[in-house]
Amino acid sequence: MTLLTYLRRKLGLTGTKLGCAEGGCGACTVMVSRYQTHTQQLLHYAVNACLAPLCSLHLVAVTTVEGIGSVARKLHPVQERIARAHGSQCGFCTPGIVMSMYALLRNNPTPKMADVEEAFQGNLCRCTGYRPILEGYKTFTGGCCGGKGRENGCCMANGNGAEKTTPLFTATDFAPFDPTQEVIFPPELMSLTKGQRSGSLCFRGDRAVWLQPDSLDEFLRLKWEHPDARVVVGNTEVGIEVKFKNMVYPVILAPAFIPELNTVTHTEDAVSQTIVYFHPISDLNPVFMAAGCKLTLMDKGTHTHTHIHLCDIPGICFLLRSEFTDKTTTLRPQEVLLSIEIPYSKKNQFVSAFKQSPRREDDISIVTAAMSVTITPGTDVVEDLGLSYGGMAATTVLAKKTASRLLGRRWGEGLLEEACSSLAEEMTLDPSAPGGMVTYRQTLTLSLFYKFYLMVLQKLRANNGSEQAIPALASRCVSVTCVLQAVPEGRSQDDAVGRPMMHLSALKQATGEAVYCDDVPLYENELYLALVTSSKAHANILLMSRLVTFLFSVQVTCVGHIIGAVVADTQLHAQRAAKAVRIQYEELPAVVTIQEAIAAQSFYQPIRTIQKGDLEVGFKQADHILEGEMHIGGQEHFYLETNVTLAVPRGEDGEMEVFASTQSASKTQSLVAKALGVPANRVVVRVKRMGGGFGGKESRTTVLSTVVAVAANKLKRPVRCMLDRDEDMLITGGRHPFYGKYKVGFLNSGKVVALDVSYYSNTGNSMDLSLSVLERALFHMENSYSVANVRGRGYLCRTNLPSNTAFRGFGGPQGMMVTESWMNDVAQSLGKPSEEVRRLNLYVEGELTPYNQILDQFTLDRCWDECLSRSVYQERRAAVDLYNRQNRWTKRGLAIVPTKFGISFTAAGALAHIYTDGSVLLTHGGTEMGQGLHTKMVQVASRVLGIPCSKIHISETSTNTVPNTSPTAASASSDLNGAAVQNACETLMKRLEPYKTKNPKGTWEDWVKAAYFDRVNLSANGFYKTPDLGYDFDSNSGRAFNYFSYGVACSEVEIDCLTGAHRNLSTTIVMDVGHSLNPAIDIGQVEGAFMQGLGLFTLEELHYSPQGVLLTRGPGSYKIPAFGDIPTQLTVSLLPSTENIYPGIFSLQAVGEPPLFLAASVFYAIKDAISAARVESGISGPFRLDSPASAERIRNACSDRFTKLCPPAEPGTFRPWSVQV
Ligand SMILES: Cc1cc2nc3c(=O)[nH]c(=O)nc-3n(C[C@H](O)[C@H](O)[C@H](O)COP(=O)(O)OP(=O)(O)OC[C@H]3O[C@@H](n4cnc5c(N)ncnc54)[C@H](O)[C@@H]3O)c2cc1C
Ligand code: FES
Ligand code: FES
Repeated sequence: MTLLTYLRRKLGLTGTKLGCAEGGCGACTVMVSRYQTHTQQLLHYAVNACLAPLCSLHLVAVTTVEGIGSVARKLHPVQERIARAHGSQCGFCTPGIVMSMYALLRNNPTPKMADVEEAFQGNLCRCTGYRPILEGYKTFTGGCCGGKGRENGCCMANGNGAEKTTPLFTATDFAPFDPTQEVIFPPELMSLTKGQRSGSLCFRGDRAVWLQPDSLDEFLRLKWEHPDARVVVGNTEVGIEVKFKNMVYPVILAPAFIPELNTVTHTEDAVSQTIVYFHPISDLNPVFMAAGCKLTLMDKGTHTHTHIHLCDIPGICFLLRSEFTDKTTTLRPQEVLLSIEIPYSKKNQFVSAFKQSPRREDDISIVTAAMSVTITPGTDVVEDLGLSYGGMAATTVLAKKTASRLLGRRWGEGLLEEACSSLAEEMTLDPSAPGGMVTYRQTLTLSLFYKFYLMVLQKLRANNGSEQAIPALASRCVSVTCVLQAVPEGRSQDDAVGRPMMHLSALKQATGEAVYCDDVPLYENELYLALVTSSKAHANILLMSRLVTFLFSVQVTCVGHIIGAVVADTQLHAQRAAKAVRIQYEELPAVVTIQEAIAAQSFYQPIRTIQKGDLEVGFKQADHILEGEMHIGGQEHFYLETNVTLAVPRGEDGEMEVFASTQSASKTQSLVAKALGVPANRVVVRVKRMGGGFGGKESRTTVLSTVVAVAANKLKRPVRCMLDRDEDMLITGGRHPFYGKYKVGFLNSGKVVALDVSYYSNTGNSMDLSLSVLERALFHMENSYSVANVRGRGYLCRTNLPSNTAFRGFGGPQGMMVTESWMNDVAQSLGKPSEEVRRLNLYVEGELTPYNQILDQFTLDRCWDECLSRSVYQERRAAVDLYNRQNRWTKRGLAIVPTKFGISFTAAGALAHIYTDGSVLLTHGGTEMGQGLHTKMVQVASRVLGIPCSKIHISETSTNTVPNTSPTAASASSDLNGAAVQNACETLMKRLEPYKTKNPKGTWEDWVKAAYFDRVNLSANGFYKTPDLGYDFDSNSGRAFNYFSYGVACSEVEIDCLTGAHRNLSTTIVMDVGHSLNPAIDIGQVEGAFMQGLGLFTLEELHYSPQGVLLTRGPGSYKIPAFGDIPTQLTVSLLPSTENIYPGIFSLQAVGEPPLFLAASVFYAIKDAISAARVESGISGPFRLDSPASAERIRNACSDRFTKLCPPAEPGTFRPWSVQV
């Protein structure tokens, strides 16, 4: 059992969250403390409870988020500061982040900012964009004035001094941090640890026995007795195998407490480090190999030491694998690894290690390398050379041929050429190699050698002055500026509207007290459900073994298609049973990619078209015509809380209570009612809060909630299911991949006069919301540019992938991404600055969109100009150009990109009760998923009722209070529900008015009481519907949107042309949110959306096999942005707004989705930098760059002498590991 399961299920400590179960998200972080007797020191570690075996915690103290503070008792400063700095949105990641910070402070009460960033390398947050977390915790770092020096360049000062701004939080109000007041290590544990050796331990479970020897002799004896026993230390490898690969290890040996295996000894000629783990693509293996390390193995039988030089072993991962696989390889079953001897480097020896991974932090490498060269003293002649690579085969490999060819050669250009051509021959990969990225990996072997070559050259020439710098990306020190709108002078302190109020649940989220769906305590007779899903993309089910409670389908149309479900007493039993189900399939032909769908004409109907002007005339008028295409990959929502439902039969009249993590309570209610065959009035759906949604919980949650409800109804017992991360990623779909094909006509000036564009979306095996998503892509096909003659067509590709669905932006980002691609092409083909061409084509107020909507309340030009000036665009451009002239292997790029995002949605309801003590219970149709909707609704009610927010409470969203609600989606929930809340509150105020008039000096409570005694109804509902909506595709008329949100961003990046890595140097965002209801929440939405867009366009890649199997099913293989991906300089400003030109409630503008697309500025800045690199190779003009701009794509696009040595295999001659869907 893991520590996490024990905490949550046995102790009911639900503050520690489950996000992935694979050590990749940090939601489960706790602090583990141990007393070390020989140093008499207390050691504190931040540990992932999801991988920590409970058995490994003997004599260890575990501190969870509940243990350091609570809202009711006293908050710990670590909890208070993240909450008050607005670092918690959905809050699901918050306890883990709190505990990482807490563990850091226990070890180092005055950390530096770099320590803080390092402490968070294992924590992910999908909502906040990380900036507020870092800002809040900056107050713990030495040298931070806590906001006192706002006037003197303080890091927390917002704006540029000249601007009148409101601070997002006041750090001087924070409770002081006193490290002497921490919880002490339990004295009984201390005396137990001091008084005895830990002793050998044995824990017996129903399927495994855990043996923890306390001496080397016993370890050897046990290994001798149980040769098949699995050795476990940190459990980061074995834990994954057990959880995700269904491995069963009946005997586990835990040697963590054996002193000989945990020491580092410095001898005269080497460091002997006892280190007990390896990994096939380990970062350390290449270093050990290149350095010529020596292993010492031992077993009880011979009791002798066997020494092996690592460079003698063809693939050292077999060393450990051999225990279970190939008995003829080096490590015998009874043998254990005692130590690794790392030799000191010699004079004239140079050693370097390299790692290239998709994400900079917390990521397994794509290619890892270590290189060591010894130069004959006084010369530049190679005496000894070791080149070792990981990621180029199933094991770490040495480039022996290349190394031997270079012996005796002089370290110079000739050697470089020979090394590269030899490495290109030796380090080959099969084009179908697992992991894909074949050309990139091959090129990396050369690029990394070139870096090593330069490094050694620089050292050799140190005395003469170096001629070439080693290409490395700029180092970082994050600085952030938020420019808010000032609260208007004279506004009452009691009026919460426009103030940066903290998210109402933030404190509870930071202490772990906030209750999420899976935190609802277990019912006594509760059961757990596990899904049985298809492993084939398209097949008939012929046979199914074992007992399955439900059979939903006889034909499956995607991998992950739900076939049935198993219900058992515990999660473990249900999941084991589900995995034991064997299914026999008859496979049918499958369509996986967009290109396959186009070839097969596999489309859902209708095919949508929007057309305006005359294309023929437009293209005739054009001076130039160009054609291009672009593919935009899909995106996983990666809400930190996966889908979860708890269904509780109420025992009479078919009533069912459903607790669900869903954005759509009403849809859940109606589908559950349908599945159970009862009217909707028997089903109550409750949503307290979600750990993130982003559109992924709008419609797809119902695939789980209906199954769970059916099971609960059938068994007449409560049934729960929380999907594991891999199941969630496999089953629930994500953002639609898009392929865009365009033909654009333009004048010499850069003015675009004709556009013909086609969009193809990979819809998957059902329509879901795909038609609306595609329509939005078409509605955004011109982004912010005026094009007189335009035709956009949209096709829904029917494929055998899980149905794709809503995702923040809802097709808009894909639509606009293609726009920016042709806009970029136009500028490049004319050799004009892209900023100039974009500006030339920008809409002006009063113009008509292709769907004939007039652009009024137009602020895009203001956003553009403000962004240009805030980013000091022209100076920056000149600096970038200068940098690029001076550097060959790193290049900088700059881009400014606008967005115009249409807002429209349907209707909303609200219900407000005033109780006789004056407290108000508010309900509305929207759900809280971290976006701060409840907080904003309380602010609205507070203003209308004229009472402080503290008197107003929102408990949950439920279908029995506000019926028939729209899903919380489309960025319009504040507008819609805010207007409904306003409506309800105004009704109540009208009813209270006579009592206010009668007693003008009275209090709110006086008026409420008077009204109550006068038998006035103190409960009112409210309603709002968006007026005048209704676009018709056939006639291209009617309003598509209620209004538009505008924003502009400028980004600068630096790329490493040799590895494809990039760094986000700076981003300036100007967003028009109208009159912000809550600037802290709005800034949080802007940053969060921007970072999600950054993931979409530069980092996140879903890999599918050609057979339609999703290969990336967790944070280990699918990388969302981490702390280190925030732009080094980030400026977010809300467009100052004095006019009341906005249609939304209190003149607010929607903010949830529109800023996401602004991350395209990073993508096009990368493209700009690649262009500069290509110029060095004599290549100019437009080129195709698909999204995301991954390290692989960047490297491959920076065509140069190294890439030429590694040409890609001819398409069609091999079956790739993964395909672009
Ligand atoms: C989230 C995450 C991120 C990761 N990131 C990286 C990364 O960036 N770079 C990287 O290189 N790796 C990375 N890894 C892989 C990780 O480093 C390995 O899983 C880790 O090295 C295994 O160590 P462990 O003690 O936790 O393994 P365990 O699961 O405890 O397994 C130990 C392994 O070593 C064997 N073993 C232990 N002691 C002995 C002994 N004395 N003699 C013989 N065999 C022994 C065991 O049989 C077993 O195979 C990551 C893993 C996770 C989960
Ligand atoms: S790291 Fe443990 S749940 Fe993700
Ligand atoms: S607040 Fe971090 S994941 Fe939601």
